[in-house]
Amino acid sequence: MSRGKFITIDGLEGAGKSTQIDFIKKYLSDRNRDVFLTREPGGTDLGERLRALLLDKNIDAMNPDTELLLMFAARNEHVKKVIVPKLEQGVWVISDRFTDASYAYQGGGRGIPLERIGELEQWTLQDFVPDMTFLLDLDVELGLSRVEQRGEKDRFEEEHKDFFNKVREIFSNRASKYPERIKLIDASKNIDETSSQIKKILDLL
Ligand SMILES: Nc1ncnc2c1ncn2[C@@H]1O[C@H](COP(=O)(O)OP(=O)(O)O)[C@@H](O)[C@H]1O
Ligand SMILES: [Mg+2]
Repeated sequence: MSRGKFITIDGLEGAGKSTQIDFIKKYLSDRNRDVFLTREPGGTDLGERLRALLLDKNIDAMNPDTELLLMFAARNEHVKKVIVPKLEQGVWVISDRFTDASYAYQGGGRGIPLERIGELEQWTLQDFVPDMTFLLDLDVELGLSRVEQRGEKDRFEEEHKDFFNKVREIFSNRASKYPERIKLIDASKNIDETSSQIKKILDLL
């Protein structure tokens, strides 16, 4: 049996990650792939509990390094207990967010030097990276306008426009740096047009 592929989807709030991950799952399942959907932070019992802490806006301002370490603690569990075992069983794993988000949010947004994040990535995951990443790119204001109706905001969604602009910039820089892996998708288009950009790339896998 061949190893499954690890696909991640990332981008700003309201970019359409949850919407498009459902499309990817259906598209691959229709092609007889065994697909498993998961998310970060989260994906394990411990990871979901860490997620609740990370998103809880009632927690006093968290030190940025603490936030980064909790993200990687959750990710370490997720990769070792869920993602790698599934891939070894031939399952295709699709994660809503992954390490690129730590560079964008904790690096770009919170200002932690990217080299430090790289050290933590090496320490926990060595060279484990997704086979393919869809980066859903769109204007910060458009993304935020799409999530406005969502109701109560979490600890990240409460941030301001300049925070998200820095997040977007790091995402874009990473897409330029790793063009083979990170596929830049124009997420300002409507849902079907966005899916069709993703479909064209999935067809190459
Ligand atoms: N391409 C799109 N155009 C317009 N609205 C969209 C598009 N993609 C998603 N939406 C809507 O925007 C909101 C946020 O989408 P969602 O998939 O939850 O984004 P994310 O998971 O990236 O935060 C949802 O109400 C969704 O229906
Ligand atoms: Mg979502």
